[in-house]
Formats: sequence, structure tokens, C-alpha cells
Amino acid sequence: MKTLLFISAMFASQVFAQDARQLAPLPAPAQESLRTEMLDNLIGLNEVLTLMAAGKVKEAGAFAEKEFGVSAMGKHRSKPMDARPGPHMPPAMHGIGMDGHKAASEFAKVAATGDRDKALALLPSLTGSCVACHLSYRTR
Ligand code: HEC
Repeated sequence: MKTLLFISAMFASQVFAQDARQLAPLPAPAQESLRTEMLDNLIGLNEVLTLMAAGKVKEAGAFAEKEFGVSAMGKHRSKPMDARPGPHMPPAMHGIGMDGHKAASEFAKVAATGDRDKALALLPSLTGSCVACHLSYRTR
């Protein structure tokens, strides 16, 4: 997670000056799969925040694991190769995605205990990988 934050900080200033993000050329079907997954991410993230705000910490953890955690990996595995985003990503980009799944599982594990303060402290790790990847890569 420290690495992710470092990457984010490093790229933020450049991104605002000009679009310095690296282009990750994905086939159109893979881009489409990725976009659909991303919109689900956005909705899912809001759901986790809503559950946390309502004090439903264990529910937030269970949801985060299902939606973002390690158990959510491989969603595109049954699709044709050109519709799978992961294999077409530069390895470092794919790595950010994997780190994001692991970080979400860490949050989920703590939230599963019902400890609100500890879960809150880990909440930013859910968005760290979103920020790191978006600031570093573009697909068009
Ligand atoms: C490994 C890289 C990566 C990670 C991690 C990542 N994204 Fe994305 N995201 C992308 C890329 C690349 C696009 C652009 C897809 C395109 O339009 O081709 C994108 C696009 C989006 C979009 C715009 C979808 C649209 O309508 O075009 C949203 C919203 C989004 N991401 C949310 C999230 C959220 C929330 C997270 C974290 C939970 C996240 N992303 C994590 C790579 C990533």
C-alpha cells in the first residue's frame, strides 16, 4: 500500500500538467469488460461506504470481500481471451489490480471482526488501488 501511495503522489502533479499516463492498449472487447467492471466497482464502493456509515461493519466486510477481495479475482476468466482485461495489461498495471484485491481482503478480514475503528482505519486501502491505477494508466 505504501508503494501505491508513493506512485499516486508521484504521478498526481504530472497528470494535472499534461496527460502523462501510460497507454495500456487493450482490445476493444477487453476494454468493454473493464468498463463494466469499473462501473460495478463504483457502485460497490458506495455500498461499502453506506454500510460503514450505518455501522454495519461486518456486512461491509462481507460485501467488500465478495466485490473487491481476492475472492472477486478472475471474474473474466470464462470469457474469450480478447475480452479479458488482465492478460492484456502491462504487468505493473495488473500488479496494481492484484494489490487492490489483496488490500480489500485485508479490510474485509478486519471488518469481519466488527471492530469499527480498525475497519475505518483500513477503509482508504479500498480506494488506494483505484487511484494508483487511474493516475498511472489509460486505455485510450
Ligand atoms: C488495474 C487498474 C485499475 C484499477 C485497480 C481500477 N481501475 Fe477503474 N479504470 C481503469 C481503466 C484502464 C479505466 C478506463 C477503461 C476504459 O474506458 O477503457 C477505468 C475506468 C473506470 C471508471 C469509468 C468507467 C466508464 O464509465 O468509462 C470508473 C468509474 C472506475 N474505473 C472506477 C474504479 C474504482 C472505483 C476502482 C477501485 C475500486 C477502480 N476503478 C480500480 C483501471 C483501473
